[in-house]
Amino acid sequence: MLVDHFPLAGLRLTTPRLELRLPTEEELSALADLAVEGIHDPSVMPFAIAWTDQPPADLARGVLQHHWSRLSSLTPRDWWLNLTVFHDGVVVGLQSIGATDLAVTREVGTGSWLGRRHQGRGIGTEMRAAVLHLAFAGLNAEEAVSGVLEGNEASLAVSRKLGYRLDGVRRLVVRGACAVEHRLRLTRAEWERHRSVPVTIDGLAPCLPLLGAG
Ligand SMILES: CC(C)(COP(=O)(O)OP(=O)(O)OC[C@H]1O[C@@H](n2cnc3c(N)ncnc32)[C@H](O)[C@@H]1OP(=O)(O)O)[C@@H](O)C(=O)NCCC(=O)NCCS
Repeated sequence: MLVDHFPLAGLRLTTPRLELRLPTEEELSALADLAVEGIHDPSVMPFAIAWTDQPPADLARGVLQHHWSRLSSLTPRDWWLNLTVFHDGVVVGLQSIGATDLAVTREVGTGSWLGRRHQGRGIGTEMRAAVLHLAFAGLNAEEAVSGVLEGNEASLAVSRKLGYRLDGVRRLVVRGACAVEHRLRLTRAEWERHRSVPVTIDGLAPCLPLLGAG
């Protein structure tokens, strides 16, 4: 079975409303459809890499290839896991988590997006809480980092609600212009103080060596 060779295929995070896991090929295709349908107001760019500016066919193929590329390049030293987010069995977005030398740095990073019609209902907060639980309770992380481009109030609000603190800025080129990214950092103590979403993790034990945490 696939899970015997690649245990991440059996990893599943569950919150009161959501399930986060690797998708089947058809579910991955639904994720690509969702991205093409729209993630944000086209007049603003919330991502440091403006990947949503591509024509629809390239954007859809890019979602698939990005998914496969992260899976194929994953090593215990350096990995990103793109978890598809399901609400009532429907694909609503993507929540990623990654780390480099996790056993030493004890730090994870995250990134996420939701289809536009699924935003503003607390799903973004719930899915980030799910991977934070994976990081702190499952992988023994000490800190989690994230970044938000200036003006992305929804993403900033999600981070603030979960206990992240501002941690400096980075100046980037986005759409050919200078953009300021606010760095955010969440300590284990602040995670514990702010956690309010119950999360269940299934299938983690066989994944630990693959994530450099075992
Ligand atoms: C960022 C994102 C994942 C958040 O998901 P979401 O489900 O919309 O977020 P939630 O509903 O859980 O929470 C959003 C919070 O932002 C707040 N918010 C939204 N727009 C806001 C604004 N303009 N000003 C202030 N607060 C705002 C909401 O009030 C809510 O806070 P509350 O629960 O305290 O009221 C989602 O909006 C998204 O995919 N955006 C486009 C892609 C993106 O920006 N990805 C992140 C890149 S860093």
